Amino acid sequence: MMRPWSTTLSVLAVIVSFSASPAFGQDDGSLDTTESPQDTRDLRSLKKVVGSRFKIGVGVGHDVLQSPEDAALIKQHFEILTPENCMKPQGIHPAEDEWSFEATDRFADFARANDLELVGHCLVWAKDDRTDEWMMREDGDPVSRETLLRRIETHVDTVVTRYADVAGMWDVVNEAIGDGDGDLLRNSVYSRTTGMDFIVTAFQAARSKDPDALLIYNDYNCHKPGKREKLIELLTELKKRGAPVDAYGMQGHFELGDDSLPQLRETFAALRELGVKVVVSELDIDVVKRGRWWADGGKYREELASYDPYKEGLPEEVQRKLAELYVEIFKLFDENSDIIVRVSFWNLHDGQSWLNYFPWKRVNHPLLFDRDRTPKPAFDAVFEMLQAS
Ligand code: GLA
Repeated sequence: MMRPWSTTLSVLAVIVSFSASPAFGQDDGSLDTTESPQDTRDLRSLKKVVGSRFKIGVGVGHDVLQSPEDAALIKQHFEILTPENCMKPQGIHPAEDEWSFEATDRFADFARANDLELVGHCLVWAKDDRTDEWMMREDGDPVSRETLLRRIETHVDTVVTRYADVAGMWDVVNEAIGDGDGDLLRNSVYSRTTGMDFIVTAFQAARSKDPDALLIYNDYNCHKPGKREKLIELLTELKKRGAPVDAYGMQGHFELGDDSLPQLRETFAALRELGVKVVVSELDIDVVKRGRWWADGGKYREELASYDPYKEGLPEEVQRKLAELYVEIFKLFDENSDIIVRVSFWNLHDGQSWLNYFPWKRVNHPLLFDRDRTPKPAFDAVFEMLQAS
């Protein structure tokens, strides 16, 4: 669709003014308006109001950076960016001797040009369905331990070397812990073939190519009892084996109405005791609870596939509950900011959230900005809380 020139020009003006003005000089969490007091834009800025508590970031697709409106919103509120997909092993390394750097190069260039930091995401994704066949096989047989560790090392060396100048943090290994009561590690080619050694190798390789970066073990639901014990066991064991793990990446895909808060509190305490930092790496709050999708062998899936309660918008009552939970969560982050290095949202606005498709298609509202990029009541509430504290 063609955009009217006036809109394009005003968007460009916003971008230019963000990069040209001494933007973040106010104490109330807003952009500095002294040069244009007639400015009527919403000048509140998350990174300004968060201040030095922790870094505030967002994960976005590389295509999002092409949109002037999205780019302006990113620059107004965030200081660190995670590439949503393009840097993942299957995106950047499609065959053993083939690399696909283009999208990630553009992403990194955007970060460099706009003085933003990058999170490298992710170097190893420890799931078979997220791993290419070439990584898993060798001359038609299952890959050997030596070859797999060597391939991991080559992958990590290559990617980390290429982006070390702009990446301050790396999700070195993603989702290696098993769900449920079973083994510590998820059953994957990595654990089947090397036990825990693939994690050690990946972390040591990352450290050797980017000595100053924060190295993260990233996973979901590790605040829940059961998986939390596994996380602590894994981190303890990795330390013993000399893997330089600096932080746990708490993905933070929460749901409205879940009971995460006390569990989060306990998890922060356990990690503090262990001497491991935390990044909240993929924050969002699903307003449509999704647990039933996996319950009872998936028998509700047909019914859920057409369940789309908020397709006409979020009722005020739910909007309020979302705002309240976001405030509680950010209060907790604030209280634990001695060990939290970064909080990143997963996607920029509601229209771009992966939760519109996962695990079934529905209109979702999990973020602080709505589909028009307008701050929601949850944004207002979080902003006010941070401003007051
Ligand atoms: C996990 C991964 C992310 C992303 C989300 C879904 O959390 O770490 O990279 O794929 O799933 O968007």
